[in-house]
Amino acid sequence: MSNSLIVNQSLNLKGRVNSSGAKNAVLVEMAATLLADGVSILKNVPASEDVFNMSALLQDLGAKVDFDIISKTLKIDTTLVDSYQVTSERMKKMRASILVLGPLLAKFLRARVALPGGCTLGARPIDYHIKNFQKLGVQFLQNEDFLDAVVQKLNSRDLFLDYPSVGATENILMAATLTEGVTKIINAALEPEVLDLICMLQKMGASIKIQLPATIVIEGVSVLRPVTHEVVFDRLEAGSLLLAAAITGGSIYLPQADANILEGFLYKLVEMGHEIKTSNGIELIATSEPKAVSIKTHPYPGFPTDLQAHMMVAQCLAEGTSVVEETVYENRMLHAHELNRMGANIKVTGNSATVTGVKKLQGMQVLASDIRASCALVLAGLVAQGTTVVEGLHHFRRGYDALENKLKQLGADIYIGELSEKREDLIEKYN
Ligand code: UD1
Repeated sequence: MSNSLIVNQSLNLKGRVNSSGAKNAVLVEMAATLLADGVSILKNVPASEDVFNMSALLQDLGAKVDFDIISKTLKIDTTLVDSYQVTSERMKKMRASILVLGPLLAKFLRARVALPGGCTLGARPIDYHIKNFQKLGVQFLQNEDFLDAVVQKLNSRDLFLDYPSVGATENILMAATLTEGVTKIINAALEPEVLDLICMLQKMGASIKIQLPATIVIEGVSVLRPVTHEVVFDRLEAGSLLLAAAITGGSIYLPQADANILEGFLYKLVEMGHEIKTSNGIELIATSEPKAVSIKTHPYPGFPTDLQAHMMVAQCLAEGTSVVEETVYENRMLHAHELNRMGANIKVTGNSATVTGVKKLQGMQVLASDIRASCALVLAGLVAQGTTVVEGLHHFRRGYDALENKLKQLGADIYIGELSEKREDLIEKYN
């Protein structure tokens, strides 16, 4: 027996929804609290499974973590943190566990971490992290399961990232805040979540500047202080909700969403024919005749890879042919296979997909391969005829703070149900 997301066709979703804090910002911000001794407070924290995973990881290190889910406030007391070892159990659950490497090196001059796990998105190596920490003087030893990192003193210097990796930028940035001298990260990732981390670190006393086009300059300080910080809104949740309204022919208002942060994505929705208003938050009024649009994923401010799967659902039902090029990950098209089973017309060639619009999708049992695919398949379920059963609830839980409740608020017929061995019976019952 396992729980799945059960989605009945729910057209014309309408309403106003409050945004959760960004999972991708809070995870690194939780890691950053290790840089200061004392109690830090994070507000607007989403109750997603990865937040619980990171809390457990920090507790293993000796931190006291208290999460008030009602007020969405996370209190982290790092006073008694005395361990620099992260178990493989923690690391394998969540790739973002690697984000404690920088803070642990800054704090203890050593860290012992297992190789990270997380979603199945191709190889996902950590070579940019390792290569650049080596340039700061860190020595790495790898045995079967663990990576041991040790350094006598971190040395500041100019670093050039071969690719603007979000995690590598964040890891090096955190370590550099407590590294004597000036560290430059050239070709850094400048995702809104990285900027939110920078804002938090500055409040902690770090000296960080951004030089155009994409260099982060960090002047090391000797000590950082604990902080109270409100996490930026989740642009990926906002994008998912906007698409939910768009594909079901409805309308939505997200008062806390910042249109500047989602500009490229909103542009594509407008190109599709949807009406977008951005005077105060973001409002979308869906067109009944969406047109095909092509997208190419890129680091920010390009089209976010974490909304590629969701956008593909909209493209499946748009008039004409859309092309999707995935440039961030090497294996992020698995949802296309499931969408095709639902009646979509998608041809995948390597990291590209050609999506020819169809009139309808058909509900059925589908399997989510990663966090974002789980949400995309839920969106497909909203518009598909009959019932869609999305397996892979754990992916959905890792990435989103009870997003199903927000969809219900808009009128969606969605719930978490137990899927017995007789799953065909269940599907038949609802179709
Ligand atoms: C973060 C986000 C994730 C998002 C991704 C890209 C968090 C917790 N996760 O992941 O949701 O999809 O940014 O926007 O914030 N790479 C290497 N070597 C490295 C590091 C990365 O080859 O050392 C590759 C990756 O395999 C991937 C690409 O670079 O193909 C981008 O990865 P990166 O930007 O590092 O993503 P994450 O920080 O893991």
